[in-house]
Amino acid sequence: MYRNAKNVGHYMIGKGALSQLGDILKPLRDAGRPGPALFFLDHCFRDGKLAARLPVESGDLLMYVDTSQEPTTESVDGYAARAREFLSGKTPGALLAFGGGSTLDTCKCVGNLLTNPGKAEDYQGWELVKHPAPYKIAVPTLSGTGSETSRTGIICNEAKNLKLGMNSDYTMFDQVLLDPELTAGVPRNQYFYTGIDTYMHCFESLSGSYRNVVVDSLAEKAIDICKRVFLSEDMMSDENRELLMIASFLGGMAAGFVGTVHPISAGLSMVLHMRHGLANCYALSVQEDIYPDEYREFMRMIERQGIDLPKGICRGLSDQQYTALYEASIVHEKPLTNRLGPDFKKILTQENVIERFKRM
Ligand SMILES: [Fe+2]
Repeated sequence: MYRNAKNVGHYMIGKGALSQLGDILKPLRDAGRPGPALFFLDHCFRDGKLAARLPVESGDLLMYVDTSQEPTTESVDGYAARAREFLSGKTPGALLAFGGGSTLDTCKCVGNLLTNPGKAEDYQGWELVKHPAPYKIAVPTLSGTGSETSRTGIICNEAKNLKLGMNSDYTMFDQVLLDPELTAGVPRNQYFYTGIDTYMHCFESLSGSYRNVVVDSLAEKAIDICKRVFLSEDMMSDENRELLMIASFLGGMAAGFVGTVHPISAGLSMVLHMRHGLANCYALSVQEDIYPDEYREFMRMIERQGIDLPKGICRGLSDQQYTALYEASIVHEKPLTNRLGPDFKKILTQENVIERFKRM
């Protein structure tokens, strides 16, 4: 069976592009779609300076998304309830997200819940969303996760110890606006941890078994750009910030089937509540046998950019916590099979996986 692949409908790229957001939003507010706009902003913009630059009107809703932890089924249900209450039956003209992967994913998942009954956890999986979501616009302020172009919105289900997205064409944004001025103030470590996510999911997809030429081309280009950015003198120069934004955009389209980095990373996010980008870095740092070339290259990038990755993050954990780390990793059979084949459990035994966590 061939997959009928969908890409983002419209995109705009360029320094200062944010000033054109009002033009994009206007037709969505006019006839046919008279509803208000819902703005989701990362809580790092609480000072109101970004909001002041946005085309927010008096009848709109502006919500700050708490991204101190990754989105959970509970947090998404909470934002969806607030949005529903505010709309009280009206159809929104558009949903807009400003932030990194956590804010973008929250907006994507809330969108699905505005047109589909039930709770966030009902849609964790593949092709479970039945009705199209409202029109959604992504404005990334952090590059790397590829959420702006991917067909998933990742959420942590604490009760089930499961990090899994709403994978659906309806989850995707309809419009992306990339303005590299928005990433100028990101702290260096965070910029690296998140940016390198693109490199990770692209090499994972390229070394896997579910492939096609289009996706491979996108992934190869995104990897080239990441190398150029992270092996350069200054990964945060004006030019590099724009390049990384483009790499993230391409990488999001290429990220369908990851390998063994993302499952181990998911374990860290579930059990230690570690942020995705940083968790990926730790996951790759103990997979020199599975991805030898990428491991070496990644170490060079970290050194070149002077990025911190302190050891000992699993020191002092209980046996129960190590078991939970193993379980929250090994549950991701699709990506693990993608890299290691159907017998992946013969390589990644419980002992083997726990030994890797102990080395982090
Ligand atoms: Fe990722």
